[in-house]
Amino acid sequence: MPTAAPSRPAAALPAPARRLLTSTSRHRRTWLVLLAALVAWFCAQARRGPKSAAQPRGPTAHKSHGAALRDDDVGTRTSFPPLDDLLDRARLWPPDLNKPLCDLKIYVYDLPPALRLPDKTVKQCRWSAYNSELLLHQLLVDPTAHASTTSHPHNTLYTTNPAEADFFLVPLYPACFLFDCWVKAGWTKTARCGVDDTYIEPVMRYVREAHPHWNASGGADHLLVHPMDFVDGYYTETSRAAMNASTYLVTVGDVRPAPLGSYFRSFRDLVIPSSTHLLNSYRVNPLDYVDEAGRPLVEPRGAASPHRRDNVDPPTVEIFSPSPEPVEAGLRGLARSLVRLVRHVLGLAHVARLEARTTLAIFRGGLGTAADGERYSLGIRSLFFPSDGNTSTPPFSSHVHPGFSSLPGFDIAEWSDNDDYARRLARSRFGLAPPGYTLDTTRIYEYLAFGVVPVFVGSGPTAGQVMPFARDVDWSSFSLSVPRERAHELPEILERVTDAEYDRLRSAVWDVGRKVVLEGREGNVWRLLARDLCRLKRKGVAAGPEIANN
Ligand SMILES: *[C@@H]1O[C@H](CO)[C@@H](O)[C@H](O)[C@H]1NC(C)=O
Ligand SMILES: *[C@@H]1O[C@H](CO)[C@@H](O)[C@H](O)[C@H]1NC(C)=O
Ligand SMILES: *[C@@H]1O[C@H](CO)[C@@H](O)[C@H](O)[C@H]1NC(C)=O
Repeated sequence: MPTAAPSRPAAALPAPARRLLTSTSRHRRTWLVLLAALVAWFCAQARRGPKSAAQPRGPTAHKSHGAALRDDDVGTRTSFPPLDDLLDRARLWPPDLNKPLCDLKIYVYDLPPALRLPDKTVKQCRWSAYNSELLLHQLLVDPTAHASTTSHPHNTLYTTNPAEADFFLVPLYPACFLFDCWVKAGWTKTARCGVDDTYIEPVMRYVREAHPHWNASGGADHLLVHPMDFVDGYYTETSRAAMNASTYLVTVGDVRPAPLGSYFRSFRDLVIPSSTHLLNSYRVNPLDYVDEAGRPLVEPRGAASPHRRDNVDPPTVEIFSPSPEPVEAGLRGLARSLVRLVRHVLGLAHVARLEARTTLAIFRGGLGTAADGERYSLGIRSLFFPSDGNTSTPPFSSHVHPGFSSLPGFDIAEWSDNDDYARRLARSRFGLAPPGYTLDTTRIYEYLAFGVVPVFVGSGPTAGQVMPFARDVDWSSFSLSVPRERAHELPEILERVTDAEYDRLRSAVWDVGRKVVLEGREGNVWRLLARDLCRLKRKGVAAGPEIANN
């Protein structure tokens, strides 16, 4: 085309310019009006110029809105006033979690000794993932020294008088029973060891027959903890029927189509956070690794000891209370004490040395087996590790790829010891949370406890997972969700998160996320659970006259 000889001058111009020329001559009036408007706009800009230039603008603000809003558009727009604070904060969500929704009482059955699990089974269960059965019971009934503040939920929720109780907790530990059974059976998970006829059925019979409370409500105000993947799916129809009328406290809320979502009874069951090995069995204390604002310490306070498993005494060790400085013997201990004394005298004692979170994303976890196929992690974890494309060998992917683990800033491995993992968590910005066999990934609670922003990949609130306390806690304020079909874009998605956006997520994870973790000092889990129980009873949530007049 450029080589063709022009017959008329206008034809030499490119097509758009030609159209413009033609249009100018045809619609002269329209063009004049447009020109006048343009001149007026320039004049207005010239007057506003210096003022709008003086307005501070973050270098990264608005980037996350993508193409819809470009940086240069923003300064030229009319600005609008931010809304004034509402006097009536209760009109906003999420709510103030320190204010209980209603006055609630929970009675806990005292089972006769013959119906309790042997001490050995209970002790062993403290090291299992099913520890939440024991913890919820203990935190409500016997939170020891941690319940010293009057606001601790133990002081307001727990009652020994069934006549004033709104709910009844049955201290039944069927998952602990099965854990012991599976250990004895060499991890044959089809073994049951009589969990139904020697344990669940007798306990439920006792509850029904020795007390009037079950029959009074048909079981509807009774609570049972089921912290296993498939909830009550491990037990016989007879056992399940005996427990069926009560509300289950479960760790996996799954609303996907059957069969996966079949065990979660929506509108009946409540989701609780899982107990984790790191936090609730080994009691590794995040505040030994990060400071009170969630910033990583250069030198952890050194609570994690390889002997911890034998030495930890669950009722007296609590996470989120910094460990005391270890007392060291000998010259070295003396020197350290001297340094501490000097620092104290100089007023430096509280200045811990901090470092930045330099790891972009962390993940510790396994890969399933070749036989699991899609059942494991929906295939998502196969992207995390390098693959040679052989579906019989880890990570069981038919594609050849280097794995996210090969990328700078990604700290991905199958396993770490507790102290190493805790140090790495403290230095990580994001924590990856893909599914395992189920949607639940206990590691999110480790992320929350260490101030790591969780990234749900094919799991979480946008993938059919009901998150704990979702009626009160805004999970989207402290996490990211990447759908399964975009899992392969994860590295770019994380790279695009601006510093301002990360800071917002990080501070929310530290303020709110930490309240969702099972711990005894604040008793936050019972505090949050109580809010959902108030709703089940319609206590403290009934409509007032003003709403009726609406
Ligand atoms: C509750 O009802 C069941 C059967 O309906 C009965 O066997 C049981 O004895 C009742 N419990 C009490 C305490 O009366
Ligand atoms: C539980 O109760 C529901 C009705 O509320 C019933 O449809 C279901 O079959 C019961 N399940 C068991 C295991 O008894
Ligand atoms: C894939 O791995 C399996 C197990 O190691 C091996 O037997 C098989 O030959 C491999 N297939 C290919 C195509 O390399």
